[in-house]
Amino acid sequence: MKHFISIVCLLGGALLFWSLLAAPALTTVQATSLAQSAGEGEIIFRQKCASCHTIGGGKLVGPDLQGVTERRDYSWLQRLISDPGALFASGDPEAQQLLEEYNNIVMPNLGLTEQQVNAVLAFLEAQSSTGQVTAPVEVNLPQGSALAGQKLFTGETRLMNGGPACIACHTAPGAGFLQGGSLGPDLTHVIQRYGEAGLASNLDQINFPPMVGSFQNRPLTAQEQADLIAYFQWSDTQASTPASSRTSLMFGLGAGGALILFGMMAIFWPLQRESLSSRLRKSSNQDKTKTDAHLGSPAH
Ligand code: HEC
Ligand code: HEC
Repeated sequence: MKHFISIVCLLGGALLFWSLLAAPALTTVQATSLAQSAGEGEIIFRQKCASCHTIGGGKLVGPDLQGVTERRDYSWLQRLISDPGALFASGDPEAQQLLEEYNNIVMPNLGLTEQQVNAVLAFLEAQSSTGQVTAPVEVNLPQGSALAGQKLFTGETRLMNGGPACIACHTAPGAGFLQGGSLGPDLTHVIQRYGEAGLASNLDQINFPPMVGSFQNRPLTAQEQADLIAYFQWSDTQASTPASSRTSLMFGLGAGGALILFGMMAIFWPLQRESLSSRLRKSSNQDKTKTDAHLGSPAH
């Protein structure tokens, strides 16, 4: 019994000693990894979030993220940042309310890993607690021209760094016959939804996933950004082409084409069938006469 008590005391002492030694080491490890991930989070924030968010600098395209880790549940934030579309589609009431408040702009899926999501959240938390302000990205643009912007939009003027013309995927007024592509949204009133500062920062730092591949290494120049913004200011005063009229135009073209095709078939098909069969008949007759002639020829 005595032995047992002393063994327990010895073990307990050893454990206490070990934990005293290990505890500071553990907390420093945790602290450094947190600081590290906040550092990584800052880089991610500046590259992928600052075009739409400030921390303490007010609304931009999306909400000011000052103190967001206190306002919201951590797992909700993880879900939102890693796949905003899925959270909105789930019908989550908080997300729905935000979406309505922010002009139905669906925050893009920025393709972050779970670890990157945690890093950016660590940065948001650290930054909010220092009270330091991460202001909107300053974009100082030269004077823009709406006409030059329209030419860039339609591809009449090539983009300096070789990016594809917007019209390949977007529609907007004055974009010409058929009004452009439909992969991306109609941009007629985009300046209303993003605001001028928000649009400027998003043309400077393009984060819309379907565009990243095309523009990552082919950024828009400051002059191109300014011209496009001037164009979107003008387009905002125009009526957007309703999707239904584009669809009926496409349908009309399709139906018209089909009618012409049917008409041609109606005219040429019988002729061709006749001529084909008669040609076959003729050629077999010819062959026969040739063979007959041949058969009957040896005498000659
Ligand atoms: C193209 C603009 C855009 C980009 C880029 C963007 N967001 Fe958002 N974000 C929004 C909008 C808009 C909302 C409001 C909800 C909505 O309408 O989608 C939002 C909402 C949020 C919210 C919820 C805020 C609240 O008050 O509850 C968080 C958190 C957030 N974004 C974090 C991020 C992080 C982190 C990044 C970068 C990895 C990022 N966002 C990149 C536009 C953007
Ligand atoms: C390869 C096709 C493609 C090209 C080229 C392209 N975009 Fe986009 N863009 C898209 C798609 C798709 C979206 C929708 C993004 C999303 O849903 O996350 C988009 C979104 C946008 C948005 C946000 C619109 C909104 O309502 O949320 C803006 C602004 C924009 N593009 C501007 C431009 C400009 C300016 C150009 C030309 C310099 C351009 N895009 C060229 C495909 C393209």
